Amino acid sequence: MTHVTTHVPVLLQEIIQATQGIPTIEKMFDGTFGRGGHCRALMEAYPQARVLAFDRDVEAVQFGNTNLIDKIKGGFLEIIHSDYRDFRSDQWGLFDFILLDLGVSSPQLDEAPRGFSFYHDGPLDMRMDTSQGITAAELLNELREEELIRIFQELGEIRRPYRVVRALIHDRSEKKWESTKQLAGLIERVDGWSVKGHHPATQYFMALRMAVNSELEGVHKGVRQCLAGLKDGGRLAVITFHSLEDRIVKQIFKGEVSGFCFNKKVIQATEEEVKMNSRARSAKLRIFQKGRPLENEFKKFHKKFRQSDIDS
Ligand SMILES: C[S@@+](CC[C@H](N)C(=O)[O-])C[C@H]1O[C@@H](n2cnc3c(N)ncnc32)[C@H](O)[C@@H]1O
Repeated sequence: MTHVTTHVPVLLQEIIQATQGIPTIEKMFDGTFGRGGHCRALMEAYPQARVLAFDRDVEAVQFGNTNLIDKIKGGFLEIIHSDYRDFRSDQWGLFDFILLDLGVSSPQLDEAPRGFSFYHDGPLDMRMDTSQGITAAELLNELREEELIRIFQELGEIRRPYRVVRALIHDRSEKKWESTKQLAGLIERVDGWSVKGHHPATQYFMALRMAVNSELEGVHKGVRQCLAGLKDGGRLAVITFHSLEDRIVKQIFKGEVSGFCFNKKVIQATEEEVKMNSRARSAKLRIFQKGRPLENEFKKFHKKFRQSDIDS
């Protein structure tokens, strides 16, 4: 039996709310299409809008072209295999609403050949765009000890990755790193299970994935590109799942003079959403609006969100 994984979009209601009050919605850009959950809901809310979507994973683009395009009646959707950091407003024009929902999708995590998961044995690949770039195996087999330590400390926020890194370097002289189970097994052996239900390899895998796909660099560049692509009065909504990504988004928004941070405090999933979708637990949403606020529109928007989201 084939196992088909779906992706449940996080903060979906909040994303639709984030579009309310934008003067007109004629053009939207979804820079991280995934399985199109947000995209579809946005198109249903604004059937007259033209939508451009990017994903750097060719499987996501194929999925959208096969399953979504025909189902969106009357709407206009174009899905392109591209990286949102390469989005350019001089090529695509200006947009009323832009969404970036960062990180990986559930199908990417669940498909063993993609190499993202320690639960399924597969090659240590972890590239979102499998047509280019270096794999996790190449990083593990080639980087120096201090470079691996830096990746695990900075991206995985692991305080003491030393023993695991030493074991990685030792073992690779006998057998190259190839599979996810091989790596997960080593981490289990060296670090052991300290928190029940939390696999000791979780942070190591996340750090490797972020390094393989240069995700932080993507946020630095891509968020700025997207801000440049907003119409006056348009909004950019960014959902992050990692504290470093959220910090970058927050700093870029705060330092940007062409508009203002729409939500004063970061927006997070409700308890009900987290109960239904545990991925939502670490999701953080920030919204930026180009131009100056209209007093009434600003107040109306803030009424819709929970008080705790907007108190500074
Ligand atoms: C969390 S999922 C998005 C899910 C989507 N919002 C939905 O509702 O189905 C993240 C997606 O962004 C893609 N992605 C991550 N970084 C990207 C980048 N720099 N450029 C384009 N796509 C990217 C991943 O391949 C993945 O498909």
